[in-house]
Amino acid sequence: MTDWQELEKKYYMRTFDRIPVTLVRGQGARVWDDRDKQYLDFVGGWAVNNLGHCHPEVTKAIIEQAQTLVQTSNQFFTIPQLQLAEILAGHSCLQRAFFCNSGAEANEGAVKLARRYGKLKRNGAYEVITAFDSFHGRTLAMTAATGQAKFQEPYQPMPVGFRNVAYNSIEAIKAATTSQTCAVMLEAAQGESGVHFPDDGYLKAVRAWCDETGILLILDEIQTGLGRLGTLFAYEQFGVETDIMSLAKGLANCVPFGAFLAYVGCSVFTPGEHGSTFGGNPLACAAGYATVRFLLDNHIADNAARVGQYLISGLGYLRSRYPFVTEVRGRGLLAAIEFNRDMGQQVALVCLEKGLLVNKVKPNALRFMPPLIIGKSEADEALGILDKVLAGF
Ligand SMILES: Cc1ncc(COP(=O)(O)O)c(C=O)c1O
Repeated sequence: MTDWQELEKKYYMRTFDRIPVTLVRGQGARVWDDRDKQYLDFVGGWAVNNLGHCHPEVTKAIIEQAQTLVQTSNQFFTIPQLQLAEILAGHSCLQRAFFCNSGAEANEGAVKLARRYGKLKRNGAYEVITAFDSFHGRTLAMTAATGQAKFQEPYQPMPVGFRNVAYNSIEAIKAATTSQTCAVMLEAAQGESGVHFPDDGYLKAVRAWCDETGILLILDEIQTGLGRLGTLFAYEQFGVETDIMSLAKGLANCVPFGAFLAYVGCSVFTPGEHGSTFGGNPLACAAGYATVRFLLDNHIADNAARVGQYLISGLGYLRSRYPFVTEVRGRGLLAAIEFNRDMGQQVALVCLEKGLLVNKVKPNALRFMPPLIIGKSEADEALGILDKVLAGF
């Protein structure tokens, strides 16, 4: 049997802190490794597999599109691209879409649009205010946007044009705003930094500040969007509308995809000012359209809200049983538990042994982001395994 993990050491750049398992197939909320061991997947490809692995409707759309037309240049109109743009506009507060290939690329495009807007409408303003502990992607500009020293340090100096300030502080945003500011970019909930939600009224206050000063609000809904928090978009829960929103992860249910949507009034690009070879190609867009159609037709966000509430209250019960669990945070099917010490990795590895995939999001915290199609039985199964595992600590 080939030792894939040895091969990785030899041939693949070691940028990932790998878990010693080689996954070979997936179905719904389950994956199997190369020894045919089955796991319940509460990592979901990092909040990507919203409809589960190999969802039949999405697989059918991919196969049909792969047999029809996979890629053209964006000089031509293609039907899946426009179908997907129409359905996203029809179910969000934004009217114009641009499609690309990843979350970082979506945020890059969102920032370029805000800078273009700044150039045209705000005397050349170009700075974007972002938050500490945010995560916006791995390109150089998005590393500068991401307010975490550990990501920036290896690549200093950072590109200019970003100011990182405290999350949940409207005063910090106000203090950082200058005549050079063109936008504020925030996650609707900070996922990578351990699942932290905006305080009541924070996003509304940011929205009001943007309106007062004429700067744009960019919401990064790459992790929170498309049902994850129990509504199609997270902004719906916080009583705000955004000017620009970035999406990726679950949008095409596993097919690489990124998008940014904009309010018509700030959709200021003209031909040639932005582009992508693969972005918005028929294959990815057919997968995206099938995903969004299924999500809407089957009220998957409502399921995420219902099952999420059940999962989060189960995690609360575990907190009451184990004093070293100090906090439970969650909305919809994005949740985390925090420990009073750095035991996240050990807990995640024992869960793995017992057939449950969870994400150690911080040394002292685990994150849960299962497919949004799970029912209470999968939540119970995960909670049962976690209970047994925690009992051993
Ligand atoms: C909120 C947020 N923005 C951006 C990204 C970057 O997305 P990608 O890895 O597809 O570039 C992520 C990825 O985890 C994310 O969670």
